Amino acid sequence: MIRVVILISGRGSNMASLLATVEAGDLPARIVGVLANRADAAGLASARASGVPTGVVDHRQYASRDAFDTAMAAAIDGFAPDLVVLAGFMRILGEAFVRHYQGRLINIHPSLLPAFPGLHTHRRALAEGVRVHGCTVHFVTADLDHGPIIVQAAVPVVDGDDEATLAARVLAQEHRVYPLAVRWFAESRLRLGDGRVLLDAAQDATGALIVPHAAGV
Ligand code: GAR
Repeated sequence: MIRVVILISGRGSNMASLLATVEAGDLPARIVGVLANRADAAGLASARASGVPTGVVDHRQYASRDAFDTAMAAAIDGFAPDLVVLAGFMRILGEAFVRHYQGRLINIHPSLLPAFPGLHTHRRALAEGVRVHGCTVHFVTADLDHGPIIVQAAVPVVDGDDEATLAARVLAQEHRVYPLAVRWFAESRLRLGDGRVLLDAAQDATGALIVPHAAGV
């Protein structure tokens, strides 16, 4: 069983889907801690309700990004995790932090990266008129919303979509692919090797894997 720490900033629905997958016995992992950079992150309450230890490292208490990163890393390392999972964690993490967790720090982003890094991804996808949108799980590098891609899920953009309907369609896929990626890691099938994603120890084109909206994973 690998030890997993999840970092959140808000609602925590991806965290909840990971917890539910563990509780269902479908993920050989233990969620040993949930940390937030805001005390009012709604997901903290649901983590506590599931009996998971939580903590807050409030970024406003630190004079610099480095000081925040150092405090957050100390809180994380207190749980001795094998994997750190960013799940709607909305702070940019510095280079030293990212290096410290290299190969064991993953993120989910609500777009088909490298399209639409940053904020308001669904609004921007609609404004651009893309017909295919989705989400991406990737290893974290020092660049925002960038890094070797582990898995993507694609969804159609349909006529009449607004930001809310498109976000909901993507979120449903986030809740499928994030547990999948964590399971691969927990089963020692996934690792970062030389800046590339290695799945099943084969240096294959996993980075290009698209999980279609309608297909079972
Ligand atoms: C999710 O859509 C996640 O992909 C996104 O924040 C949302 C958090 O929802 N993350 C990013 O935008 C990171 N750049 P949740 O708190 O319900 O999991």
